[in-house]
Amino acid sequence: MEKATQIELIHELLELQHENAQFLDERWEKTGPERYLSPDLFARERERISLALPQIVAHASELSQPGDFRTLDIAGRPVLLSRDETGTVRAFYNVCRHRGSRLVNDASGCRQRFSCPYHGWTWNNSGRLIGIPQEKSGFPGLDREEYGLHELHCEEYAGWIWMRLAAGDGFDAQASLGGMAADIEGMMAGDHVVFETTTREIAANWKLLVEGGLEAYHFRVAHKNTIAGLFCDNLSSYRCFGRHIRSVLPRATLAGLKEEPEAAWELGRHANVLYTLFPGSQFLVQEDHFIWIQGIPVAPDRTQLRLSTMIPRAEDTAGKQAYWQRNHQLTITTLDEDFALAEGIQQGLASGANTHLNFGRFEGALARFSEFVDDAIA
Ligand code: FES
Ligand SMILES: [Fe+2]
Repeated sequence: MEKATQIELIHELLELQHENAQFLDERWEKTGPERYLSPDLFARERERISLALPQIVAHASELSQPGDFRTLDIAGRPVLLSRDETGTVRAFYNVCRHRGSRLVNDASGCRQRFSCPYHGWTWNNSGRLIGIPQEKSGFPGLDREEYGLHELHCEEYAGWIWMRLAAGDGFDAQASLGGMAADIEGMMAGDHVVFETTTREIAANWKLLVEGGLEAYHFRVAHKNTIAGLFCDNLSSYRCFGRHIRSVLPRATLAGLKEEPEAAWELGRHANVLYTLFPGSQFLVQEDHFIWIQGIPVAPDRTQLRLSTMIPRAEDTAGKQAYWQRNHQLTITTLDEDFALAEGIQQGLASGANTHLNFGRFEGALARFSEFVDDAIA
């Protein structure tokens, strides 16, 4: 993030802290429980958001060498990511072109070719059909060029692999970030590696899990046994860049900056910055590493999550394993507190007890996120 922006954001928070005030929206808002319960709404979100918009699906280091591949399911669709022999990352439906079997069952690995587990049709890692058992007698005249794997739009940008499932024109990952692109490039994700990944399947709507990170109102109560003491009570600010949100969550050390010259101020030393990339990726940037949280909606009341601690590549072998392990564990313990709350909310909403939920004036980022979802499915 640019130095001038860091200083502006620090001033804003220091002033609020000085006045014992919060970063407030114009008004507080209400939303209906059906937003988290409705199968119809979920189907529309799947069509207009999960299938239609470009999204991050992997970190570049997870496909670092030619031949590396990963499989995943997005919006109910089986996907195969592969770095081909030229170094280009490609995305395909993980579906055999003979009779539709799932082509690759392993979660990840390194292969030059993919051979179907049913009858053995085989493709190279660029998606070209290169082998059909008993082709001449069974499929005379078949044109192999017509039977490449079904390819999807895919792009490598800023250290991430981006993909879009919908057919039609390609996309520009950088343009899709709008004014947030410089910040995301500045994270230098390409110079990081995955230290450890934890996965969860949470019995809650995907939006509840995104929203859980967008305010600091709950820290003092919900995280009293973990991180509450490290942060300012109910102090955070946010900015929107298109449908993406940058939240700043200042740590308790913020007040000490008043004693330091402005030129020495560094936001990252005194605040966590949370980037919420619409629809489902969040990066929680901490002083020396960042957390990547990726949500995959499965059903109105079910979401798969992957939580990865991303560390500088140079530190991967620097003998700090125990340090990073402690960091990862604290993150998971803290987020598990949020997930347990989200599952409770999901049950509470389904009970019909409440006619609406309330977003306070200092929970404005949740109201914005809610509007962005409405706008995307309108
Ligand atoms: S379904 Fe894949 S080879 Fe037959
Ligand atoms: Fe939380």
